[in-house]
Amino acid sequence: MTTITVIPGDGIGPEIMDATLHVLDAMQLGLVYEFADAGMVALEKHGDLLPAATMDSIRNNKIALKSPLTTPVGGGFSSINVELRKRFDLYANVRPAKCFPNTKSRFTGGVDLITVRENTEGAYIGEGQDVSADGETAVLTQKVTRKGSERIVRYAFELARKTGRKKVTIVHKANILKSTSGLFLKTAREVATQYPDILCNEMIVDNTCMQLVMKPEQFDIICTTNLFGDIISDLCAGLVGGLGLAPGANIGVDVAIFEAVHGSAPDIAGQGIANPCALLLGAAQMLDHLAKPEQATRLRNAIIATLEAKDSLTPDLGGEGNTMGFARAIAARL
Ligand code: NAI
Ligand code: MG
Repeated sequence: MTTITVIPGDGIGPEIMDATLHVLDAMQLGLVYEFADAGMVALEKHGDLLPAATMDSIRNNKIALKSPLTTPVGGGFSSINVELRKRFDLYANVRPAKCFPNTKSRFTGGVDLITVRENTEGAYIGEGQDVSADGETAVLTQKVTRKGSERIVRYAFELARKTGRKKVTIVHKANILKSTSGLFLKTAREVATQYPDILCNEMIVDNTCMQLVMKPEQFDIICTTNLFGDIISDLCAGLVGGLGLAPGANIGVDVAIFEAVHGSAPDIAGQGIANPCALLLGAAQMLDHLAKPEQATRLRNAIIATLEAKDSLTPDLGGEGNTMGFARAIAARL
């Protein structure tokens, strides 16, 4: 028995979580769910976006499956998700993008890459954010450390070895951001020498975006800093058919949180039409992390078979199905 913290979250969160747990239940994995609140729902119930009980649950169980959380505009945290990553030092954000059948993607094959994004440093640390009293000047501090760069690049190379991938592309802007991106690139080059079995190349971020759209098949693992990784991983999600198919893992030394890349989708919340696949694929990453790779493959194959059969697909995939119907169709193919 493994107990995991389950955070249903905001907007479409509870709908896609119900669907995901329906499929996980059908797999009979021996998972025990400890439900915890975070986000707007937690603010309304407990007066706190991230209640202590939720933090304790994640700390105890070390594994959480999390739906999207709505960050209220103005005041408080810059983002609840950034705050969670900071508090548990979830330094590696791992976002696979892969072509699936019958999606509205630009490419019918050839895209199968993973973005490994540094998750705790760079432009998103929220330090030194200031706007002058006259409202005319805004500043922000970016911080990159050798330790932070080293551990994320090492994670990317270790992931390549573990998953049989051949190449790591270091994405940077060291030509202009000489201090921060420069330190990241210098450290990456040093780490790369310790992995002679894995190809390593370097690419400047703007060129990377163009290359991703023109020739995505040249990428295997992309390793980059926080802001570039956020943007590039959404670009990659777009390449393979949208956010409804893009999962992400936030990995730390002790704790790991698995999620969908997308947000709480307020425009379709409550309608029962959200695509549950992104969170389901996040659950598959969780099963890999729990050393159940054959169960992770079983889940991914059921999703692929359902897409292939065009059975009960949700509107974002061009179907007329609903969230729970889609989940039932997937569960039937396990
Ligand atoms: P979003 O990802 O929620 O929505 C963008 C578009 O994609 C919308 O048109 C939405 O309907 C569609 N979409 C997203 N997920 C879908 C799904 N599973 N099935 C079908 N269509 C889907 O991004 P947006 O609107 O910028 O953000 C809304 C809220 O979500 C904000 O409060 C934001 O802070 C939060 N957010 C939370 C994240 C997290 O918890 N990890 C990540 C990104 C945003
Ligand atoms: Mg993002």
